[in-house]
Amino acid sequence: MDAAAWDAKYAATGAGLLWSATPNRFLVQEMEGLAPGRALDLACGEGRNAIWLAAQGWQATGIDFSATALARGRAAAAEHGLAVELLEADVVAYEPPLAAFDLVAVFYLHLPAAERTRVLAAAVRGLAPGGVLLVVGHDLLNLTEGVGGPQDPALLFMPEDVVREACDGLVVEKAERVTRPVETGQGTREAIDALVRARRPEA
Ligand SMILES: C[S@@+](CC[C@H](N)C(=O)[O-])C[C@H]1O[C@@H](n2cnc3c(N)ncnc32)[C@H](O)[C@@H]1O
Repeated sequence: MDAAAWDAKYAATGAGLLWSATPNRFLVQEMEGLAPGRALDLACGEGRNAIWLAAQGWQATGIDFSATALARGRAAAAEHGLAVELLEADVVAYEPPLAAFDLVAVFYLHLPAAERTRVLAAAVRGLAPGGVLLVVGHDLLNLTEGVGGPQDPALLFMPEDVVREACDGLVVEKAERVTRPVETGQGTREAIDALVRARRPEA
């Protein structure tokens, strides 16, 4: 989907959010014990994760190409009195400041493999020594055994794809499938996500 299609998807929810106001559970889980620093959230959507990070003391920047999503994020950050930098850009072309971030988060960004690899390479270039790359998205297995998410296998990935594409020179701390409950019309089902957490070694 291009920026116009994503923007239309956000606009279609009217005054409501497309996603939740609360942060992703795996972000909260993985940040436990990590000292706040500078964080970059690529494809930040309505900013739920960047806003939560700012509330935890992180200096957070989010990038997305949907102006509607970003406007919602700015409004929510202002409502909470939080400073969050939300920038409109295509993450496939975006080049973060080199070695500047203690955390680069990429949550539920589903692109063809070549584009995903470019985004992840840029994400890694943005990592400061000791910085953490955290990638979470719908796992390929979710298509057949989970619920929700993109239905095109070419847009899905597995933890080992992220490790192969992006983690050369990083210390892989986690590369695993994780599940989360999703309420559906037929009751609660489990969605299957891929989660990779990798750290740039200290210089
Ligand atoms: C499923 S949403 C996830 C949003 C957010 N990461 C979250 O977890 O709440 C995917 C987001 O990726 C953004 N996106 C997709 N392709 C993009 C691109 N090439 N550049 C910037 N943003 C992109 C969309 O606008 C959308 O906000």
